[in-house]
Amino acid sequence: MFVDIRPDTLNIDETRIEAAVTNKTRVIVPVHYAGVGCEMDTIMDIARRHDLLVIEDAAQGIMSTYKGRPLGSIGHMATLSFHETKNIISGEGGALLINDPALVERGEIVREKGTNRSQFFRGQVDKYSWVDIGSSFLPGDIIAAFLWAQMEEAESITKRRLDIWRTYHQWFEPLEAQGEIRRPVVPNDCTHNAHMYYLLLPSLEKRTTFIARLKEQDIHTVFHYVPLDTAPMGSQFGRTSGDLTHTHDLSERLVRLPLWVGLEDRQTFVIRQILAALG
Ligand SMILES: Cc1ncc(COP(=O)(O)O)c(C=O)c1O
Repeated sequence: MFVDIRPDTLNIDETRIEAAVTNKTRVIVPVHYAGVGCEMDTIMDIARRHDLLVIEDAAQGIMSTYKGRPLGSIGHMATLSFHETKNIISGEGGALLINDPALVERGEIVREKGTNRSQFFRGQVDKYSWVDIGSSFLPGDIIAAFLWAQMEEAESITKRRLDIWRTYHQWFEPLEAQGEIRRPVVPNDCTHNAHMYYLLLPSLEKRTTFIARLKEQDIHTVFHYVPLDTAPMGSQFGRTSGDLTHTHDLSERLVRLPLWVGLEDRQTFVIRQILAALG
């Protein structure tokens, strides 16, 4: 069941979740968009009252916090992505964080091709065997080594990304004040990881022109999410609760700006071109 997003953070609108819960609902999956935390206290409270699990999609949220707690540490489980487009990368890859101790054992088995091999290595069983569903989810050594080095640099990577993010944010403040664009919103009780810098333009037409103008200068800006309820699988299997007005409206107007470690030297040039393209 899909519910609409909040127009400020673009995260799930927590005030609409409860109306979407049916007797078939098992899990709430909040996506921390752009590495900014969803309203987790409310979401965990709804889950408790309806006996649901919460799986945080923290794919974009490593190193961010909500009320002082790291994203990914609040729900019963959470996922992180180490895809090359993320802040901390291993090319492809990700992690399942299991915060509920009751779910850990099964998680180990699913990761080890449905076998209790982890228990065997710990000497808890005398041979290992196929006991449940699973697949081969373990990373190889080379990917793990690459990821380890990225993890060691996580603070400095995040700091550099935040500097770039803040530079954009300062430059675009006057345009927001004039009503020409809207900038990202980060609630006071969240710290974020500068996963993404986006602008919300007034219309789809303006966004199309903006992206084309910057492409002429070899600056790659991209639209981002396509609403899942309009995807072939989403429309076949998903349902919606209430209207998805903000989801559809904002997805047509959102544009992501370049943000990568190393952009610092060229950011002033990029910003000048962006201002020209908006003009
Ligand atoms: C919010 C969100 N969820 C899930 C994914 C999927 O992550 P991965 O490519 O590591 O499977 C991504 C990455 O694009 C994402 O941004």
